[in-house]
Amino acid sequence: MHKITIIPGDGIGPAITAAAMRVIEATGVKIEWDRQLAGMAAVEKFSNPLPDATIESIRKNRIALKGPLTTPVGGGYRSVNVTLRQAFNLYANVRPAISFEGTDTLFKNINLVTIRENTEGLYAGIEHFIKVDEETIAAESSAVITRKGSERIIEYAFEYARKSKRKKVTLVHKANILKCTSGLFLEIGREIAKRYPDIEFDERIVDACCMHLVMKPEIFDIIVTTNLFGDILSDLASGLVGGLGLTVGANIGKDAAIFEAVHGSAPDIAHLGIANPIATILAGAMMLEHVGELDAARRIEQAVREVIREGEFLTPDLKKGSTHGTDDLADAIVKKLGH
Ligand code: NAI
Repeated sequence: MHKITIIPGDGIGPAITAAAMRVIEATGVKIEWDRQLAGMAAVEKFSNPLPDATIESIRKNRIALKGPLTTPVGGGYRSVNVTLRQAFNLYANVRPAISFEGTDTLFKNINLVTIRENTEGLYAGIEHFIKVDEETIAAESSAVITRKGSERIIEYAFEYARKSKRKKVTLVHKANILKCTSGLFLEIGREIAKRYPDIEFDERIVDACCMHLVMKPEIFDIIVTTNLFGDILSDLASGLVGGLGLTVGANIGKDAAIFEAVHGSAPDIAHLGIANPIATILAGAMMLEHVGELDAARRIEQAVREVIREGEFLTPDLKKGSTHGTDDLADAIVKKLGH
């Protein structure tokens, strides 16, 4: 029995997380869900976007499946996603980009995972303005790369490769220009790669990597990189396989892991019943893989793959003019799982 925190989220969140829970349960894996609120739903009920009970639940269960949360623009509260990332030191952002037959995309054979360092680099928040002379103000931003932070993300990438039976880790850097920061990351990558002779190690400069990603994406398996490069490359890779509706992101730390779709709460379609639940269902599969339920995870991925290929029950974002909604699509996936 796995105890898992479930955060339904805002907008389309409750509908798509309910669909994901149904699909996960259809695999036969036993789960005790601990339902907690965050985001607007929590503001409405507790006047707090991230109640202590939600934090405590994640701390205790160590695993959460999360629906998207609405973040107010301008004023209001700070992004709950950022707060969660910091509270649990979720240092690895893991984003698979996998092509599905039956979707309208340029490439058909992509199966890569971007592993982005989530806490350091240019996002360390060290920014300021300085007065250079009477006429000149300069804005400066510092990137922070530590040995400890680099080791843990690169080791995570190699361990992930072994666990998921992948063959190659590509480290992406800009060490030709950023000799200290990117240089240190690359040096540590080369050291760690020696401890994993069973995994091929490849290194690429970030600009060339972008070109290769759009010209021959099939050469990539796992990409490991620093925060800013990972932010950009993971979105680029998602775009290659059809964008938001199918893209999953996991934030992983030593003490907790949070799984979710990459898209937001889609307020424009929130009550229409047509939200595509697939990204959240695949987030559920990734979560099952993380807790060791590899077979159930593969079965969900396979069921999703078949339902997309057959194309009958797709939501309108995947198939123009479709009249099928969230529940029809989830039902079709549940049926493939034999329930
Ligand atoms: P969004 O991803 O919610 O929506 C962008 C467009 O994609 C919309 O037209 C929407 O209808 C469509 N879309 C998104 N997910 C869909 C799905 N599953 N099925 C069908 N269509 C889908 O991005 P937007 O509008 O910029 O953000 C809305 C809210 O979500 C904001 O408050 C934002 O802060 C929040 N957000 C939360 C995230 C999270 O909690 N992880 C991530 C991104 C945004």
